[in-house]
Amino acid sequence: MVDAGNLIKDLQQMRDEGHLSDALLRKAVREIAKDEPRFEWVGVYLLKDDELWLHNYVGEPTDHAKIPVGTGVCGRAVAERTNLNIPDVSAEENYLMCSPEIESELVVLIRAGDDIFGQIDLDSEEKAAFTEEDEIALIGVADKLAEQLAAERREAS
Ligand code: SME
Repeated sequence: MVDAGNLIKDLQQMRDEGHLSDALLRKAVREIAKDEPRFEWVGVYLLKDDELWLHNYVGEPTDHAKIPVGTGVCGRAVAERTNLNIPDVSAEENYLMCSPEIESELVVLIRAGDDIFGQIDLDSEEKAAFTEEDEIALIGVADKLAEQLAAERREAS
């Protein structure tokens, strides 16, 4: 797992230099996926009008570029306003398959208070691949991404 502290520092530095969320979201996905064989697929979805839109990813292409809130593990996380660590996706009724090799999935919301901007989604070919430490580290990264997305939303309004 990437050193989240370093990644958060890099993301803040990018903000200080004037980079927009697009660049930060790409950097985060790239770094989280790098040198981590447990993570087969890493991506970011952004929430827009009750649908999740795939922003960028590392891994195999997916059919699920757009996911309605409430559908699949990704959409359920938004509907229930919570992160989801699914140790065995085959036991999930509400699951959208990306690839048959995937065994477990982690969704960490990108949020600032009540505002949900999207999520970091991770898939693994191992059962129960994601630890509480992974989730805590990724919450730190997601919070930094949310800071930038919230700032851009404020500027746009
Ligand atoms: N498995 C997810 C869909 C996204 S893909 O894994 C990339 C879900 O159930 O929502």
